[in-house]
Amino acid sequence: MYANIMLVQVENVLNTDELTRLRALLDAAQWADGRITAGTQSAKAKQNRQLPESAPQVPAARAIVGTALSRHGLFFSAALPRTIYPQLFNRYGVGENFGAHIDNAVRLAPDGSRYMRTDISATLFLCEPDSYDGGELIVQDTYGEHRVKLPAGDMILYPSTSLHRVTPVTRGERQACFFWIQSMVRDDAKRELLFNMDSAIATLRQQQGDTEPLVALTGTYHNLLRMWSDV
Ligand code: NI
Repeated sequence: MYANIMLVQVENVLNTDELTRLRALLDAAQWADGRITAGTQSAKAKQNRQLPESAPQVPAARAIVGTALSRHGLFFSAALPRTIYPQLFNRYGVGENFGAHIDNAVRLAPDGSRYMRTDISATLFLCEPDSYDGGELIVQDTYGEHRVKLPAGDMILYPSTSLHRVTPVTRGERQACFFWIQSMVRDDAKRELLFNMDSAIATLRQQQGDTEPLVALTGTYHNLLRMWSDV
């Protein structure tokens, strides 16, 4: 059930200036109980705080992350985003955690305008790992558990089909931005093939420039994307 999962670490999504501005916004905000966006099962497992949709800091905080994502080639290559859910922000203090759950398959946009399918889940870490203990994101697959705790500004992408949890924070505070992506390529295995191919093409282009076989290979990438994408 949880086989073939690909976790992709996207480094340096936010630079130092963006992190500073984002943290200042979050520090000034009034936080709410994290269960406001949880499904029935996950509400029982969820114990944290979340920035409410009505918080005045939300538009500026989303703009910082949205701008950063739009300039990040690796994010685009790995996720092939069709729809990005408006970013949410949460914090875990000492004793708070999020038990094992699978994210809701379909979500309604916060403004009620449309539904989207969640293919990929994203967590963007906002605090340096040595500033808190615990608070690891644990993603399960058939081989066991992947433990994820990244530098501030780095993001992990993982399939929304995977069972995951956040371990209790035992010191300090963990802040993160999280959201979902509906991908142009629904199937995780196909998306992973495209990502691996695109990464290899990029490396070859750096090494050799646009040779004739590389142009052909790039064309094949686009023709596969054409075959498999849904936009
Ligand atoms: Ni989740």
